[in-house]
Amino acid sequence: MTSAIAHKPTLSVPGPAPTPLLGAAPNIFKFAKDPIAYTRQLFETYGNLVSLVQGGGTRLYSHYPDCPGTVFACGPEIVRQVATQPDVFYKCPLTGPLYRFRHESARAKPLNHFLVGIFGDNEAAHKKQRKLMMPAFHHQRLGSYAQDMAAITADELNKLEVGQVHNIAATMQQITLRIAAKSLFGEDIGPEGASTGEILHAALDIQGSLAMKFLRYDLPGLPWRRYLNIVAEYERAMKALLDAKRARGCDEADVLSMLMQVRDEETQEKLSEEELLGHVGVIFIAGHETSANALTWTLFLLSQHPQIMSDLLDELEGVLHGDAPTLEQLKDLPLLERVVKESMRILAPVPWNGRVTAKPTELGGYSLPTGTEVFVSISQTHHMSDLYPNPEAFDHSRWETITPTAYEYNPFSAGPRICIGAGFAMMEIKIILAMLLQRYRLEFVPENPIDRAGMIVMRTKHGMSMRVHKQDRQFDAGVGTVQGNIRDMVNLP
Ligand code: HEM
Repeated sequence: MTSAIAHKPTLSVPGPAPTPLLGAAPNIFKFAKDPIAYTRQLFETYGNLVSLVQGGGTRLYSHYPDCPGTVFACGPEIVRQVATQPDVFYKCPLTGPLYRFRHESARAKPLNHFLVGIFGDNEAAHKKQRKLMMPAFHHQRLGSYAQDMAAITADELNKLEVGQVHNIAATMQQITLRIAAKSLFGEDIGPEGASTGEILHAALDIQGSLAMKFLRYDLPGLPWRRYLNIVAEYERAMKALLDAKRARGCDEADVLSMLMQVRDEETQEKLSEEELLGHVGVIFIAGHETSANALTWTLFLLSQHPQIMSDLLDELEGVLHGDAPTLEQLKDLPLLERVVKESMRILAPVPWNGRVTAKPTELGGYSLPTGTEVFVSISQTHHMSDLYPNPEAFDHSRWETITPTAYEYNPFSAGPRICIGAGFAMMEIKIILAMLLQRYRLEFVPENPIDRAGMIVMRTKHGMSMRVHKQDRQFDAGVGTVQGNIRDMVNLP
């Protein structure tokens, strides 16, 4: 995802100076290595709007022809301005700068839609796609997904071995991936779902490598060839899935079937094959990786806060008596709600909203030229001490007294591009936590430091080792043994 372009001094936003020899490269490197730590330092030095490098000239995200540079922003007022002006702040496909190469060759043609979907649309096209998708995420539809969520969770929990150390981050990925496959494709495709997820993850990993910038030739052994092969493999798998659904009449109760049937109110047109392929990829990625990280971070925080864990289990057992929650019962679990909210405040699973200015605009007191990349930090906003006193404390009780605005607390973003799956995700996270915590106690095992990784999402760099016990309430075990840079985001014993 990181790449430098020729230095064009067109940005007036303050930021660290480029180095005489290497220009912006050291800044890009520091950002790629740990975006949260580096930008926190920049915000502290330069304020709520800061350039990756003084004068601009970098490109991390934009596929548009001219990119004057990259700025980082935080704070409720800036969040509001960006979130409420989708005609000024455009979003890009998840393929980022690679989208530029979609016309380059026949093999690159699938990049027209690969990981584009609703993420890559703006203005009227975005409104249209969003309207078509909304019914799949309406409250009344959520109930039909809840049963599948509980069944898949129960099945995966059966696979955990008591007494053994498991990588809980991988377990959470597997559960949310199966749930996404079931609610999206209508099939609990188990291992096949995993392979679709792996294909997409492999594509995202290669996309981010620097070698893609310098060695973008479709030749054996080079990453561009590997990337295009992965995209082709994904196309084949998804086309086969669409064909199989068409053959069955597309009237199943999943998101894809619904999208295949839906027609534009005015033109009566159906979504094209390209549009469907684009949507499926982005919803699949957006729909499982985010929830998996939210779950992993929440389990981690609970493992280090024994009193909160104990109170939460009291609440769960008092209402559910060991069973999976129904949609109705979720409303009777206020502590669970506060714990999840506080977890997503302190360790936001999606730390950034990336945008590109579609026209010249003003932000945070500075003029931004057309094409400027703007990364709005959800994470930094969630750690502002004037909004959240003692921001590094994992304190669910703050939610009994605060009601932040949509621009102060926005793990799912805000405005017309707010996460379409927010209700789905909250329900999924709560069901999985409620089932898991009643059945097992997870003891943190310090096999690896808990370092953060990732750019679009925030995940653990080395997984999350935890020993699985039958629920015996011995919550003090494993407390106070955490090392790693997560400690600069949350106070831990
Ligand atoms: C804890 C879990 C989740 C978090 C934290 C999360 C967060 C977000 C955020 C911050 C955005 C806005 C990104 C931006 O504008 O730059 C977003 C958009 C989106 N999310 Fe989620 N998400 C989660 C789960 C889900 C799920 C489960 C689905 C689908 C099943 C989903 C589907 C989408 C889609 C389609 C968009 C694009 C909406 C648009 O552009 O109109 N997300 N999500």
